[in-house]
Amino acid sequence: MTLAITGSSKSWFERAARVIPGGVNSPARSFRAVGGDPPVVMARGFGPYFEDVDGNVYIDYLAAFGPLILGHAHSRVVEALKDYVDKGTVWGTPAVKEIELAETLVECIDGLDQVRFTSTGTEAVMSAIRLARAFTGRPLVIKFEGAYHGHSDGMLVKAGSGASTVGTQDSLGVPPGVVNDVISLPYNDISVLEDTLNKIGDRVACVLAEPIVGNMGIVPPREGYLERMKELAHQAGALLIFDEVITAFRFHYGSAGSWLGVIPDLYALGKAIGGGLPQGAYGGRFDVMQYVSPLGGMFQAGTLAGNPLSAVAGLTTLNVLRQEAPYDRMDHLAGILSDSIMDIAREYGQQVTINRVGSAFTVFFQQGPVYDFTTAKQSDAVLFAKFHHLMLEQGIYLAPSRFEAWFVSAAHTDQDIERTLEACRESFRRLSPA
Ligand SMILES: Cc1ncc(COP(=O)(O)O)c(C=O)c1O
Repeated sequence: MTLAITGSSKSWFERAARVIPGGVNSPARSFRAVGGDPPVVMARGFGPYFEDVDGNVYIDYLAAFGPLILGHAHSRVVEALKDYVDKGTVWGTPAVKEIELAETLVECIDGLDQVRFTSTGTEAVMSAIRLARAFTGRPLVIKFEGAYHGHSDGMLVKAGSGASTVGTQDSLGVPPGVVNDVISLPYNDISVLEDTLNKIGDRVACVLAEPIVGNMGIVPPREGYLERMKELAHQAGALLIFDEVITAFRFHYGSAGSWLGVIPDLYALGKAIGGGLPQGAYGGRFDVMQYVSPLGGMFQAGTLAGNPLSAVAGLTTLNVLRQEAPYDRMDHLAGILSDSIMDIAREYGQQVTINRVGSAFTVFFQQGPVYDFTTAKQSDAVLFAKFHHLMLEQGIYLAPSRFEAWFVSAAHTDQDIERTLEACRESFRRLSPA
């Protein structure tokens, strides 16, 4: 099967490119890193599928870059939203659903004593950092190369995901004063972190990490790395922040921190907790959260924060995840998929490395191992672009970047996996040098 992907998509995208920079509302959606535009313009999502404006259907492994753990338009989420929408969309007052969602999060995330909602993951991380600075009275942030923490100024210093894909790791427009306060270190290298904290630890407000990195492709922490990171941060008097915008609820019902047995001082959350609607949150230790305005002097606000519809979609998603516990099945399907991709690649003489954690994995077009951004960048961009295109033609939608993950959702079926593997086989056959 070869899809005709340039019909109406092309004309819609031409319209988009006239009025939206690059035709996209987030650079990660562009196809520039995989051989150029136009990207496919979608008309709807249902279960594990997309349908584009030409009526082509794709199996979706993008999951909107993470939030859609239940797939698109899950019936319970849709019903809950329909039920709630005629009560109003935003009030600017305390409201029932945001309180229920906050209680749910506090109950199931270890170390989350209090939580404050934002509208995006970017704001969540930005606010958690401001809070760490307020609490410690220190200016510096240590983060890790290739991780993506949203698009606030400081977080674009050596960032991953869309920022590295479009080749603007240090974005224009970030003032030098901001850059000077952010230190980016290689991930998974404990001695570099230790040396850095030994030298400047007394000026560090926080160490900020994705506990399992999702934004240079999936990169898990080495054994003992996060435990030692926490110890070192605390020895220096700094806070540990886990950016769990992707990881919370992706691997189990709760945070990756609890899953891995390392509880940070603060969390940044997003994606899944909005069930596909705009939602972010930050929170953690009670004593630290007392610094947040109006209790304390760390100011942070949001007109749409705690939006009732986002809260309803988030609550319903979390309820389904708790009741249906789809994690074992998602892991199982992702395991079949990634093991079989490895076998097929080998059969056709292609060197790939696959990093998988639970239901998320990345296929790196290189020998491996991949444990940090330097090794992730060795993934062959040209081969990935060809692979991406071949898969798309066969109705498989992958993130258009070699630094993103394949996300298996609770909606994917055995048949979807089989069909994906057939497409992989055909793609590797056509990539094969012979
Ligand atoms: C780990 C991580 N943190 C923060 C963000 C920013 O979230 P948002 O796009 O909702 O601003 C992202 C987005 O991809 C992310 O993956």
